[in-house]
Amino acid sequence: MPEQTAGMESRRIAASGDLEVSAYLEIAEAKAGAQPVTGAPSALSRETIVILDFGSQYSLLIARRVRELNVYCELVPFDAPQEQVAALRPRGFIFSGGPASVYEPNAPLAPSYIYEMGLPVLGICYGMQLLAHQLGGRVAPGEKREYGHALLHRGVDSNAILQNLPPTSQVWMSHGDRIEELPPGFRPLAYTDNSPVAIMGNDRGMVGLQFHPEVAHTVYGRELLRNFLYQVCGCTGAWTPSNFIADSLSAIREQVGEGKVICALSGGVDSAVVATLMNQAVGDQLTCIFVNNGLLRREEAERTLDTFHRNLLWNIRYVDASSDFLNNLEGVTDPEEKRKIVGETFIRVFESEARKMGRIDFLAQGTLYPDVIESTTAEHKATAKIKNHHNVGGLPSDMRFTLVEPLRNLFKDEVRQVGHALGLPEEMVWRQPFPGPGLAIRIIGQITRERLETLRAADWVVMDEIKAANYYREVAQVFAVLPGVRSVGVMGDYRTYGEVVAIRAITTDDFMTADWARLPYDLLARISNRIVNEVPGVNRVVYDISSKPPGTVEWE
Ligand code: XMP
Repeated sequence: MPEQTAGMESRRIAASGDLEVSAYLEIAEAKAGAQPVTGAPSALSRETIVILDFGSQYSLLIARRVRELNVYCELVPFDAPQEQVAALRPRGFIFSGGPASVYEPNAPLAPSYIYEMGLPVLGICYGMQLLAHQLGGRVAPGEKREYGHALLHRGVDSNAILQNLPPTSQVWMSHGDRIEELPPGFRPLAYTDNSPVAIMGNDRGMVGLQFHPEVAHTVYGRELLRNFLYQVCGCTGAWTPSNFIADSLSAIREQVGEGKVICALSGGVDSAVVATLMNQAVGDQLTCIFVNNGLLRREEAERTLDTFHRNLLWNIRYVDASSDFLNNLEGVTDPEEKRKIVGETFIRVFESEARKMGRIDFLAQGTLYPDVIESTTAEHKATAKIKNHHNVGGLPSDMRFTLVEPLRNLFKDEVRQVGHALGLPEEMVWRQPFPGPGLAIRIIGQITRERLETLRAADWVVMDEIKAANYYREVAQVFAVLPGVRSVGVMGDYRTYGEVVAIRAITTDDFMTADWARLPYDLLARISNRIVNEVPGVNRVVYDISSKPPGTVEWE
């Protein structure tokens, strides 16, 4: 299945680390030929906006913004088949931006069935030019490319899209073309210095924005989107965590029936939310498995289990397989080899546990919406492999599960909101991602029990200080690394020759790109002092100031 595997690899590159257990199981699923479930639970489609993706780098961001306004939306390729779109029963459409020009041969166009549905459409940038082009107006190359900040001035005409918009406001432009002639029935609603028509609209709910309302630089972007959703499309904001939970519980019950479900817990928010939903939906039919791979942080297994037991009282099988993992990793230094071994070992352990349980019909896992989108976006399949976040193991072909993926329509921030609404504790809801191969990819070179202890002790100090300084929620991920370098130091009157510890702290929205966090020097100083004083064998601490790209978040 080469194509399927390529798609799944790219999924992991985008996804945050606490999906790791599911990631291993996706391989199991591919090998075992399990059938993923597709389609949103029907009730969620009550107020759906469909976003046609014309290739903008901001398409997913548009979707997030719409969801933040409590309206459910789905992103589909611009040429999605009519049945797929009609099945979502949309209230309106958004046409994303895109890199093409409408007058180029082969420029992607919106299918005619979209216009025939007679629903409101919001065209953004390329999407606006498409509206003009396809509805009888004229688009031409602008004299000057307009990129970056621009000042938007309202015109004299009124339109629901303009509600609460001040006379002038900052917007973010990124385009080369301009509207030369409006299509029949459209009126100009606002302009900038370079775009005589920066907003256009007609009386049938069709609106074009020459700029990007979804980016933060467009100061009133949220209001414009809200106006489109609520004033133009008539949405009421039904997309809330509690509605999602209610819909999701009935969808799970319907899918699972009397079947038996297995779910792997990683300690991360995604698997915790999945398991909680499953537990509420089908109770005793669910068994959760938590595998200790010996590569966890200090007290992690105990704390995770404790949190689960304290809050959820479910049927959890705890498997301490540390020795299997560490024995298999002995002497291995290659990063990809480490991932592969951890993945394979996980599958073996999981398989053996599952077998002990007898018949299992379903595997519940925490696939998220960006993973789904990425794995269906063709261009990502050609993306070069940076890290093989998947760990190909393979289950025997007689193990077949059907997947239950209750989060496959959610963004990470929505998962956290649902976690909150389900009453999960803060420490679970806000846990930072932690990679499946755990400390194995933070110890450069050979993994020994002694080096694991060194890293655990250093990481403990980092977390302790970060939390004490209230920085845990400020950074997307923070951790210690053992780069495997030794350096000369002096302690008291003695020469030392010890390990170096590197600290990595990043800020990011999506983990695809990241910046190093500007932690206060005093905080870094405290971390450094404590590590050299408290962690035997370490005499130097360095701070990683690389962004991604060119670095990655993890060192391996
Ligand atoms: P990178 O290092 O690729 O990390 O910039 C991006 C995000 O993914 C996590 N990560 C992994 N998660 N298995 C996982 O489950 C892996 O092999 C893996 N490698 C990196 C990383 O912690 C960050 O959140």
